[in-house]
Amino acid sequence: MARHFVIDCDTAEDDIMSLYMLLRNGVEVEGVTIVEGNIAYEQEVNNALWALEFVSGKVNKDIKVYPGSDRSLVKSFKTVENVHGKGGIGDEIVRPKKLRPEPKRAPQAILELADRYAGELEFLAISPLTNLALAYLMDKSIVEKVKKVWVMGGTIYGRGNITPVAEFNIWVDPDAAKLVFNAGFDITMVAWDLITNYVVEEDEWERIKAMDTEMAKFYVRIYKHYREFAMKHQKMRGNPHPDLITTAVALNREVIKRSERQYVDVENCDCLTRGMTVIDYLDLWGKEPKAEVVYGIDKDKFMDMLFHLLSWF
Ligand code: BDR
Ligand code: CA
Repeated sequence: MARHFVIDCDTAEDDIMSLYMLLRNGVEVEGVTIVEGNIAYEQEVNNALWALEFVSGKVNKDIKVYPGSDRSLVKSFKTVENVHGKGGIGDEIVRPKKLRPEPKRAPQAILELADRYAGELEFLAISPLTNLALAYLMDKSIVEKVKKVWVMGGTIYGRGNITPVAEFNIWVDPDAAKLVFNAGFDITMVAWDLITNYVVEEDEWERIKAMDTEMAKFYVRIYKHYREFAMKHQKMRGNPHPDLITTAVALNREVIKRSERQYVDVENCDCLTRGMTVIDYLDLWGKEPKAEVVYGIDKDKFMDMLFHLLSWF
């Protein structure tokens, strides 16, 4: 049976490859929604359209891009061009040649798609949760209609990337994240301090560089900046794949080695720990454990999926 996805992006390199991984694995991408986050909002929209143009001809469906929220619900945030480059794929600024965004806004599109695919729609949030929170505020029955929400966000052990304890996607809009985590959605959460254990190491990077496919060349082009940043400033031995690992988990449960159902809340105070995910790992609060927290990944299975993607064309 076909699976139906909405992919929500703050479109930088790893968001783009996540979209491609969905397409490469034959699921139905019913919409790409864009939310504030990594870089200037208009460039995030342009990146998504440009990325779709790169695979046009390989995908027999018109995939629509819906711009959504360009800011967080309550407080301001900062973009991270230092991490992903000015263009989100390094410093290169790209523009789509032909494709244009839809006039319909993302929260409305999400609600309509949830109606159309009630009980089947899966929401892949590799981004701040503002668009989904807005859709939920407009119509709370979306909780029953969306089958799964896959979230790249938060930390398990409080080791963050935007503050010492907070992960970027949740930190950008902790008010939206708090709404989403408490709404009752069936969430699977892939945390930042989990995925830092599964980076693309030197030998794997070299193997990709040696591949003679357009997709592998594209990958090297868009990840070079992020890889250098991660190795220089984030104590990593290669480039991480927060969004892509989340996508692999969504596509193939065998990528998960260990997970637990737990209650997860989000700290949205104006405080040192703003944007931190709080996981009740001992069930001390006795609240319904609605989120599945991923604690271990099968790196070989993930890399197989990455190489399958890179050999697409
Ligand atoms: C997440 O934040 C963004 O920088 C990436 O696209 C990813 O979704 C990692 O914290
Ligand atoms: Ca992202």
